[in-house]
This record gives sequence, structure tokens and C-alpha cells, in this order.
Amino acid sequence: MAVLQFELEVTDQVSKARAGTITTDHGQIQTPIFMPVGTAGSVKAVSQQQLKEDVQAQIILGNTYHLYLRPGLDVLEQAGGLHRFNAWDRPILTDSGGYQVFSLASSRKITEEGVLFQSHIDGSRHLFTPENVMDIQRTIGADIIMAFDECPPYPSEYAYAKKSMELTHRWLDRCFTQFNNTPDKYGYTQNLFPIIQGSTFADLRKASSEYIASKNAAGNAIGGLSVGEPDNMMYEYTELCCDLLPVHKPRYLMGVGTPWNILECIALGVDMFDCVMPTRNGRNAMLFTSKGVINIDNKKWEKDNSPLDDGIDCTVSNLYSKAYLRHLMKAKEILGLTIASVHNLAFYLWLVKEARKHIQAGDFLSWKNEQVQILQQRL
Ligand code: GUN
Repeated sequence: MAVLQFELEVTDQVSKARAGTITTDHGQIQTPIFMPVGTAGSVKAVSQQQLKEDVQAQIILGNTYHLYLRPGLDVLEQAGGLHRFNAWDRPILTDSGGYQVFSLASSRKITEEGVLFQSHIDGSRHLFTPENVMDIQRTIGADIIMAFDECPPYPSEYAYAKKSMELTHRWLDRCFTQFNNTPDKYGYTQNLFPIIQGSTFADLRKASSEYIASKNAAGNAIGGLSVGEPDNMMYEYTELCCDLLPVHKPRYLMGVGTPWNILECIALGVDMFDCVMPTRNGRNAMLFTSKGVINIDNKKWEKDNSPLDDGIDCTVSNLYSKAYLRHLMKAKEILGLTIASVHNLAFYLWLVKEARKHIQAGDFLSWKNEQVQILQQRL
């Protein structure tokens, strides 16, 4: 079994967009790619069959924080890892918990050693360190595991952002030492991606990008963005980081974002994205479509029998009407959550597939500029 490979197939001549193929022991991923978020081993309201057939997902995410707390490592280990446990045989990436501990745990204390926190489920106390987070992610069994980092809030003071970045870099050294000293758990290769931090300070972003690039990892991530800063600032730091990362390794922008954010960041050289937005917003009646954004709760859809979206290649989006989905959401029928989530995810996967086609065809930039206008329209 082999270390993750990235074949860069096309680099756009006018923007910095790229099309490539990532190869893992659980199969290939065509980039640019969007990765549905399956926090607790499940993409909320969507089955694994639907992820394959309707959404056409190529890789999904899991979260260390959630899976460690529940079902717990003993359950995952006896099952033979997350792929066997949740019956998903394509690639999986796990986030390290460095982010969720800050957004979810009821209390947390950061020290040089790691983060002491209390579970949001039962208040029990736990310590995450770079070492045990590597061990935990090896046991969960993802193909791509993420370094343990601290994601500072926006806005942060320069002094705090610098101290935090330096801590993340020391933790990264410990992550690599632990990762390199432990074997793959289930017979396939696991790959560690380091994460750039540095908040919204150009010199810190530059220093962090250079440090992360020096690790010569199988792939690299940009963290600490899409945490409340204006979009233009997110684009500025994404571009700064991409320009300093190795060309022949995949680049993953964590937690981004809206469809137009994704298109803009593809144009800056990002290859991989994840975000809870298509599922979370879908459960709250917000639909992203190839013609713009819909609030399906709106009375204007009450008798609209047109399909949710006939502009994308998804059976669910083509089959069910706006009027029917509005009814399901109003009546709090659980099928509504499934249809909205499947549609939004299928739309995100359609969008990155189209982006890839246009990168290959050589007209990505003009297509992107047109799409960014269309997709932001409120219908
Ligand atoms: N998800 C979104 N942003 C981040 C980040 O900065 N770090 C981690 N670990 N996960 C994220």
C-alpha cells in the first residue's frame, strides 16, 4: 500500500486554478473536490448509498473530537476502523479536534502539553495532545489525518496570533514525530497533512506557510480562515498561502465555504474543500442551486411544481418539486431534511466537477466570473 499521490494534470494559464488526481489506498479523488462533512461518522440525514449514487461524493470527513467521545476508540478499533464501521469504502479524512475543541467543548485550557477540555456530551474531562491525537486518528483509520493545531478567533491581536502559530508549529513537530514512529493500523497507508495558521497577518501567514512547506508532507492545509473575516481578506490570505505551498502537493482550505467562495479559492490554487454549509443550511431550508439561492420556506414556492434544480445531474434534484420540499419542511417531515441535504451536496459536487471541466477546457476564469454572479442571486 502506498503514500498518497497527487498528479497535477492541468494548471490554468490565466488564473491559478488546477485540476489533478489524488490517489489513496481507498481510491482516487478528482480535484478540485468538495468533501461532505460526516462529523460523527455520518453525513447528517444522508445515507452512504445516497452519498455515492446521488451526491457522487469521492471522499468524506469525520471529526476526531466527536468520534473519540462517541462511539469511542474501542468500538472503532474492534470494527476494524471507520471505513468498516460506517460502510464507506472510499477515502476518509479526519479533522484533528483542534478546531472542534474550541467551538464545542464546555471548557478548555491550552497548555504547551495540549488542550484539557470537558465533553459537550457528559462533562467528562479529557486531554488532547499532539501525540494522542495522532494515535486516535490512526485508530479511527482515516486515509488523511490532520495535524493538531490551534485556530485563533477573528479578530486576534498580533501578539496572540504569533504565540498561537508558534505553539501550532511546535505541536506539528510532535505530530510528525509521533506519526512517523507509529505504523499504519489497518494495512492501508494513512497520510498526515500539516495546517498553516497565522490569523490575518501577512508576515505570520508567510512564516507559517514556509514552515508547513518545509515538512514535505503528502498534502498541506490552510486553516484559521472563514472564521468571520470579510471574504476579501479570506481570499488575500488564501492566495498568499497557496503561492508558498509546494506545487505538486494537494492544498486543502479548511471550512470553506459558500459556492462562490469555493470558486474564488479554486481560482487561487486550492484543490480541496469541506464545509457544513450545504448540510446545515439545507436542514434550515436554504438551497443552493445552479440558478441561485432559494429559501424553500418562502410562500412563493407553495405551488411551484418545477424541480428543485434541473441544471445539475442529480436524480433527487431533478425529481422532487420546490412545492413538495416546502411542504415537507413546513410539516417537519424528516424526508425534507434528506432531500435538502442530498440536493445541496449534489450541487456542491456538481459545481467542483464543472470547475474541473472548465479548467481542463481552458476557459475557467470567464466561466467562474459568470457563475459567481449567478450563484449569489436570491431567487
Ligand atoms: N476547520 C476549519 N478551520 C480549521 C482550522 O483552522 N483547523 C482545524 N483543525 N480545522 C479547521
